[in-house]
Amino acid sequence: MPIRGKVALVTGATSGIGSATAVLLAERGAHVVVTGRDIARGAQVAARIRAAGGIADFLPAALATADDARVLATAAAEVAGPVDILVNNAAIAVFGATATIAEADFDACYTINVKIPFFLVGALAPGMAERGGGVIVNVSSMVASFGTFGSAVYASSKAALELLTKSWAAEYGPRGVRVNAVAPGPTRTEGTLAHYGPDRLAALAAQAPARRVADATEIAETIAFLAGEHAAFIQGAVIPVDGGRTAT
Ligand SMILES: NC(=O)c1ccc[n+]([C@@H]2O[C@H](COP(=O)([O-])OP(=O)(O)OC[C@H]3O[C@@H](n4cnc5c(N)ncnc54)[C@H](OP(=O)(O)O)[C@@H]3O)[C@@H](O)[C@H]2O)c1
Repeated sequence: MPIRGKVALVTGATSGIGSATAVLLAERGAHVVVTGRDIARGAQVAARIRAAGGIADFLPAALATADDARVLATAAAEVAGPVDILVNNAAIAVFGATATIAEADFDACYTINVKIPFFLVGALAPGMAERGGGVIVNVSSMVASFGTFGSAVYASSKAALELLTKSWAAEYGPRGVRVNAVAPGPTRTEGTLAHYGPDRLAALAAQAPARRVADATEIAETIAFLAGEHAAFIQGAVIPVDGGRTAT
């Protein structure tokens, strides 16, 4: 499926990897629906795409319930047409010792990282299948693959998303919908700079063979690859884009 002329819905596109993905998919000819909570940043991303000659709409959405996911799916189709590409990128990271995690933080993390992708796929994948094809790319994390102190909630939510990736490949793949995931390593974004700061982020990245922090566009490149026709035979895969961290 070529990206040109397709409609792509990118969650968390007001920031970091989601913003870079929205820009890249638009450069490759997709009509991109940018969504996120921050109205100023969302409008900026859409304006940047349009200024470069691309097509984009911004739909602000604070996603908390299955209904929020369904409303966003419907609104995206109303503004741009049937959604062909869904990038489940929006997430939050909750870190801390298991015994210190508040129930509300656990719920918030699992809601945006697992529940919202689940109901967005439920809202959009059947239509993709009926139209004969579509693509879903889930954004996981390298920490879904190994245990580290303090990341139990966040890492397990991403492990759930990775298993959902395989489940959906089995469920929708036979009807033309390719479902894959990328699992990034430390990447320079608004979110990680606010949480870690540049020095801790660099220290984290130094554990991998690449010995450096990724730029958001390096993750977006793999997401866009998975969304495009050159990835036509890739289904149910989780592609590490982590500078070699999980391989070593
Ligand atoms: N950066 C890394 O080092 C790294 C590493 C591994 C995996 N990842 C994964 O890559 C993805 C992007 O990470 P990032 O660092 O680019 O993230 P980020 O800068 O923290 O941005 C997160 C995005 O998610 C949106 N979002 C969060 N909660 C939301 C909610 N309840 N409703 C709607 N939107 C919500 C935010 O919207 P607003 O800003 O508008 O509020 C923002 O657009 C995430 O899935 C993350 O887990 C990142």
